[in-house]
Amino acid sequence: MGVSTRLPRRQFDCLVLGAGGAGLRAALQLADGDAHVAVVSKVFPTRSHTVAAQGGVNAALGNVLPDSWHWHMYDTVKGGDYLGDQDAIEYLCRAASRLVIELEHYGVPFSRIDDGRIYQRKFGGQSQNFGGEQAARTCAAADRTGHAILHALYQQNIRAKTHFFDEFFAIDLLRDAAGNTLGALVLEIETGELLVIESKTTLIATGGAGRMYRTSTNALINTGDGLAIALRAGLPLQDMEFIQFHPTGLAGLGVLITEGARGEGGYLVNGRGERFMEHYAPHARDLASRDVVSRAIHMEVSEGRGCGPRGDYVELKLDHLGDDMIRKRLPGIRDTVLRFAHVDPARSPIPVYPTAHYIMGGIPTNRFGQVVAPERHGPEEPQPGLYAVGECACVSVHGANRLGGNSLLDIIVFGRAAGNHILAALKEQRYHRPLPGEAVERALERVWRWERPGGESVEALGAELRQVMERYCGVFRTQDVLDEGVRRVREIRERLAHAGLRDQSRVFNTARIEALELENLVEVALATVVSAAARHESRGAHSRVDYPERDDRHWLKHTLYLRAGEVIDYKPVRMKPLTVDSFPPVARVY
Ligand code: FUM
Repeated sequence: MGVSTRLPRRQFDCLVLGAGGAGLRAALQLADGDAHVAVVSKVFPTRSHTVAAQGGVNAALGNVLPDSWHWHMYDTVKGGDYLGDQDAIEYLCRAASRLVIELEHYGVPFSRIDDGRIYQRKFGGQSQNFGGEQAARTCAAADRTGHAILHALYQQNIRAKTHFFDEFFAIDLLRDAAGNTLGALVLEIETGELLVIESKTTLIATGGAGRMYRTSTNALINTGDGLAIALRAGLPLQDMEFIQFHPTGLAGLGVLITEGARGEGGYLVNGRGERFMEHYAPHARDLASRDVVSRAIHMEVSEGRGCGPRGDYVELKLDHLGDDMIRKRLPGIRDTVLRFAHVDPARSPIPVYPTAHYIMGGIPTNRFGQVVAPERHGPEEPQPGLYAVGECACVSVHGANRLGGNSLLDIIVFGRAAGNHILAALKEQRYHRPLPGEAVERALERVWRWERPGGESVEALGAELRQVMERYCGVFRTQDVLDEGVRRVREIRERLAHAGLRDQSRVFNTARIEALELENLVEVALATVVSAAARHESRGAHSRVDYPERDDRHWLKHTLYLRAGEVIDYKPVRMKPLTVDSFPPVARVY
């Protein structure tokens, strides 16, 4: 009798991996639809990374300035440098207003304008009238919007009786030979006990992988777990070369200083006190899209116009906004800057530098959240029983560069859509499919492998990976540098395969979890750097010094990275929206 048959088992209609906004919004749709749904989260749900989203969620409510979902769609297509799938983008922007009002009804305490309607601030890459004056589209709860949304969604899930497995770590998917996903093997972090969760459907909503970089706005938990789980299941990852560097991380630390600070009227200056964004984006200036602003900061510093004793950052000025306004609209930023930079933003500028923030790529899905993968060079097919939503998914609405405020929107729109699709699928599938023992045994190998003592320090390998990614896959890239990055990440992967946990008698489960997380991060880092080395053009956040132009003729296509053989495949961009005309690629200027 195999070990797998002795493990405890639970059965659910749907298993959701991850309790951030995407997972919770999907779970809520399912639980309210009377499905038996379990959410597995490696942290207590309200500690998920959505809690850290600051500036807000986009919807063309038009409360502060005129707006329309169609203008929002145009900005999103342009912001993504025309790589986004326009059917999904139309769906996103059309659904936004209704779903933000729904969030309000769930209890999200949005900031207000004088007549009581939801406050909306200006954010980067937003325009009225298809590229005209700046829009104000980002619905904000001061600068703690993600915190407000996550807590409201958690409370609604408690009301709806969603079942939570708090502080459980997902090891791997359980799949049969036909490719049906049948659940996952999970590990309770406190006790080390394993649990088999059988489910008719599984949704991956584990967020991003920002911790593969040394400085990052991401929480320690963002280790690309769901992405690596998909890779190990033989699925591709799409568009992984597109990493967003947020322009305003606190210099040296990477802590997020929201784009909302510039939306409220803050601006960047270089070491000479010049408002340098005027040269890079004469129209939008400090509210150009993030890739443009991050490159500009990088250029100012590398050309010797940085601030500080080493000239290695620029400054964000908020002092002209006044103390009252900062306390009202940016209270979290004020706390963060006082605590980490020992600076009062009402008096002194904030030292900032671009920092890893978001991955535009991920597990390929359609707009119903179904994971879609090509049968090796064949047509794209939905993977039976498997869904993905949020930062770990690539639907693709963000294309080559996400606009600020569109990630909170992505998670609520596609979380809900996936929930609805799963409810319909469950009507067709009343019984659990049989779970083969080998599927569990395969997943168990991942856990047993870390019972081995000795070898290199996992922690040191993690630090090395983060240095390598920062150095070899940063804001500006060249073939030589990326090829060297591929070589180094491969080497780290090889060394990790021979590493063990040093003194097994003193190993607590957290050490085992950190090792499993690093395995995940290394897989995602390799997918990122291999994809980046393959794309020979500059588009959105992927900036190649050796291929400085966007090349629509050869590169208006999505990349698909497959772990087996580290091969890259391609698939077309869906240029056709659902009901309106396409936005064809044109030169992208701000
Ligand atoms: O700057 C920010 O508040 C980040 C928002 C986002 O990434 O959407």
